Amino acid sequence: MIVIREKSAFLIYPNSFLNSLLMCGIVGYTGPREAYPIVINGLKRLEYRGYDSTGVALLNGGLKVYKKKGRVADLENFIIGENLHSNIGIGHTRWATHGEPNDRNAHPHTSASGKLAMIHNGIIENYAQIKKELLNKGYHFTSDTDTEVLLNFIEDIKNNNECNLEEAVRVALKRITGAYCILLIDEDTPDTIIAARKGSPLVIGVGKGEHFLGSDATPMLEYTKEVVYVNDYELAIVKPDELILKNLGNEKITPFVTKLDMELAAIEKGGYDHFMLKEIFEQPSTIYDCLRGRLDAAAGQIKMSGVDNNIEAFKNASRIIIVACGTSWHAGLVAEYVIEELCRIPVEVEYASEFRYRNPIINKGDIILAISQSGETADTLVAIENAKKQGAIIFGIVNVVGSSIARMSDGGAYTHAGPEIGVASTKAFTGQLAVLMMMALQIGKVRGTITNKLFSQLLFELDAVPEKVEALLKNADQLKMIAEKYKDATDALFLGRGYNFPIALEGALKLKEISYIHAEGYPAAEMKHGPIALVTEILPVVFVATKDSYHEKIISNMQEIKARRGKVIAIITEGDEVTPTLADDVFFVPPAHEIMAPLLSCVPLQLLSYYMGVAKGVDVDKPRNLAKSVTVE
Ligand code: AGP
Repeated sequence: MIVIREKSAFLIYPNSFLNSLLMCGIVGYTGPREAYPIVINGLKRLEYRGYDSTGVALLNGGLKVYKKKGRVADLENFIIGENLHSNIGIGHTRWATHGEPNDRNAHPHTSASGKLAMIHNGIIENYAQIKKELLNKGYHFTSDTDTEVLLNFIEDIKNNNECNLEEAVRVALKRITGAYCILLIDEDTPDTIIAARKGSPLVIGVGKGEHFLGSDATPMLEYTKEVVYVNDYELAIVKPDELILKNLGNEKITPFVTKLDMELAAIEKGGYDHFMLKEIFEQPSTIYDCLRGRLDAAAGQIKMSGVDNNIEAFKNASRIIIVACGTSWHAGLVAEYVIEELCRIPVEVEYASEFRYRNPIINKGDIILAISQSGETADTLVAIENAKKQGAIIFGIVNVVGSSIARMSDGGAYTHAGPEIGVASTKAFTGQLAVLMMMALQIGKVRGTITNKLFSQLLFELDAVPEKVEALLKNADQLKMIAEKYKDATDALFLGRGYNFPIALEGALKLKEISYIHAEGYPAAEMKHGPIALVTEILPVVFVATKDSYHEKIISNMQEIKARRGKVIAIITEGDEVTPTLADDVFFVPPAHEIMAPLLSCVPLQLLSYYMGVAKGVDVDKPRNLAKSVTVE
């Protein structure tokens, strides 16, 4: 019996230790349709997860595997003219960790017998030991990957134990350590895909007489919105008209089917040149979606089930430790300023990659806030796993529904920004800020550390953010002109104070990752302690200088730069008449309470980095060396 479960706020899932994850794209299909078009188009939708190399495996009177270094389009060209008829197929896009990106390390891998093909997302930590055992048995390997080792380990068990493939997979998975999501096909069972996961995501789409598999739901959305999230240590035997789910103890598990409300259009570019630009312009609606059903300014209330269900813990919290990476870490820094101001709870913001390796002090009453767009960032996963072992409560702020951090958290809140395809995080960032603002307001109210007057004022301020973002986006072309002017810069500085200091850091990161221009973010007042030595007449200095309690001081910092003939670009508030007399270029944002300023001031910086990247001919959706959810140790 299959239970239909509507999308929920933040279901608590039992979950196990998760180690480092590869982040690759995985697609599978079995059913009456031609498999190749489904698999290859599915890979295109997942290419943002990694695109060093790619490959497909089909069964059509025998196993056929096509794979090569490069992107999905390169693979398509590589196999033009081949007989690709098959009703079953698996496909993979890779972001390399074991073995450099090349043809032979691309997935799928085939077993020694040539009858099995497998794709894998994850890292097998004890693969060297297993490889040694297999080499001693006379096995040869064509690649440097852990995946090929696992596949031959499975085949070796199947041959020596004279068991079926399913049983061999179960035995092998109990022997290995590390993280995996694997799909296997076998010439001897030409309609069946065997899949399993631990630590790497796996979703199975349920169709009529057909099944789809993927690292997330995007490859299957155009075919079905009924999906099963496979949990760790579960194994799936997938046939066109049958889905059997078991644990590694060979006990059957009832699959829970979740109905998704993601639309396919949401993952198309929607007429924009790049996903990044589309996602920047989606922010009025994504911020609105994040607030919808939670913020009711007129009624003067916020309803967040994840927070409300844990409100006592927040009310009595002695400290909040925020763990995150990259842009999500910048959201955490904004949260530190806002939560300490409104809730009077000490907040520490930790880089997850540092927090997981040092020996942090975690006290009873500490709440760990994990912020992550993908919900699959290994450093953040392990950081909260370690904290959980020390008794901390984990609260996740995540964008991808059903992701590993969501499942590992004791409670949480989704940012509801929809799939973020561009590698640079934009709409997910403002979604994180919107959630954090609501949390701070709700907790401050419960703790009595915020007056009713300020609470109500900030509710209306937050409620007005989507409209204000919509308004400032209308002037996006001004940033295109500024970008053209400074596109040949080799360095840039981003300066801000108070709530805008984290936005200066975020602006610098955006410029680095999208235009490859070196950029640094600094507290504006810190310039005099050294960095001002960098100022020359060709160095662009971006000030995030919206009207706030620091405004006069940041004007002085601007004057210090101008005195040294630096170029000043300033993000300022409509009505500011002083800054335009100082700055070389300005961009106005609508007035807002200083606490809400980050939700507005970050948007022009997103656009500035986008237009500078485009002006420099960068593939802004897939910048070099990066991938969407950078989830390797
Ligand atoms: C942001 O633009 C970057 N792509 C990157 O810093 C990202 O924020 C970081 O890898 C964290 O990812 P997460 O939010 O999915 O955990």
